[in-house]
Amino acid sequence: MKAVIFNEFGPSSVLKMADVQDPEPKDQEIQIRLAYTGVNPIDYKMRQGYLKDMMPYQFPIIPGWEGAGIVSKVGKGVRRAKVGDEVYGYFRLPEVHMGTYAQFIVVPEDLVVHTPKTLSLKEAAGIPLTALTAWQALFDFSKLQAHETVMVLGAAGGVGGMAVQMANWAKGTVYATASSEKHSYVLGMGAHKVFDYTQDDVQELLFAKEPHGVDVVVDCVGGETAKEAFSLVKKGGRVVSVVEHGIKELAPSGVEAGFIFVQPNRDQLHEIGALLDHKKLKVPEVAEFPLSDAASVQDKLETRRVKGKIVLKI
Ligand SMILES: NC(=O)c1ccc[n+]([C@@H]2O[C@H](COP(=O)([O-])OP(=O)(O)OC[C@H]3O[C@@H](n4cnc5c(N)ncnc54)[C@H](OP(=O)(O)O)[C@@H]3O)[C@@H](O)[C@H]2O)c1
Repeated sequence: MKAVIFNEFGPSSVLKMADVQDPEPKDQEIQIRLAYTGVNPIDYKMRQGYLKDMMPYQFPIIPGWEGAGIVSKVGKGVRRAKVGDEVYGYFRLPEVHMGTYAQFIVVPEDLVVHTPKTLSLKEAAGIPLTALTAWQALFDFSKLQAHETVMVLGAAGGVGGMAVQMANWAKGTVYATASSEKHSYVLGMGAHKVFDYTQDDVQELLFAKEPHGVDVVVDCVGGETAKEAFSLVKKGGRVVSVVEHGIKELAPSGVEAGFIFVQPNRDQLHEIGALLDHKKLKVPEVAEFPLSDAASVQDKLETRRVKGKIVLKI
């Protein structure tokens, strides 16, 4: 099969198109002919060696942790899908080796979910990783309740846009940060008020609306922004970061803070799919590029200015 691979950690020039042996499904595994892969910051971070001390890996590495396609083979004992089904998923495997920038992937059937009926494979491919991250940040970690207030830092990106939508669906009052040219996009995702973090005093503007701060802050940016989250949250509130590993140690007393690393979860992805089908959530803006553009697309994403999602057509 054709795949994008790399044989050493480094800049995007290490990415090459190559012919790789098709992976074959074993018992309880499914082979998927991928139509699209989602592209995420973890893809360029992994290529740079960010995870090398945290997860086992084997070169050559095919990047990519999410995608959508059609079931092409099933191993013995598979019950959840059959050949020809349209499926998607967050396909993080225990070893970093075979990813979704490829014509085929083989994954345990537990990671595979049927695509929402109303979505194309292109629309579905970029959903799983960001949607599960936002879900687990808001509902698993923060235990968001109806009518609470939420601030999403970095709302124009893949995770932030999903977090805004889900917080709105959960009947939260949603504040968000983005640069001004992306305000209409973030408002369209369901934010009640967006602040321009490049110009505004975000704390001052937020406190004019919420004098004690918000119940929950979701940080999708990290660094100084993650620290600033503590000036926006009320006493007794929660701060969750998907970027800053050490956020828990920075928390003042009376604020619960933590980093989350998104976990595959079939049931949650199924529920997210149902919300998409019922128009309670919508697909973010999706830009499509060919698989052969993987290197330039990773460079583009690394500028941290991309709005919505990018997918690669395989
Ligand atoms: N822990 C996990 O499990 C997990 C899962 C998924 C993602 N992540 C991480 O979460 C981060 C976000 O992921 P993503 O997919 O959402 O990335 P992304 O799509 O690349 O995010 C890009 C967006 O970030 C915004 N942005 C950049 N700097 C900002 C700032 N200082 N304040 C507010 N907005 C800012 C940009 O909007 P503007 O142009 O308006 O600034 C841009 O639209 C990445 O670091 C990623 O690795 C972690």
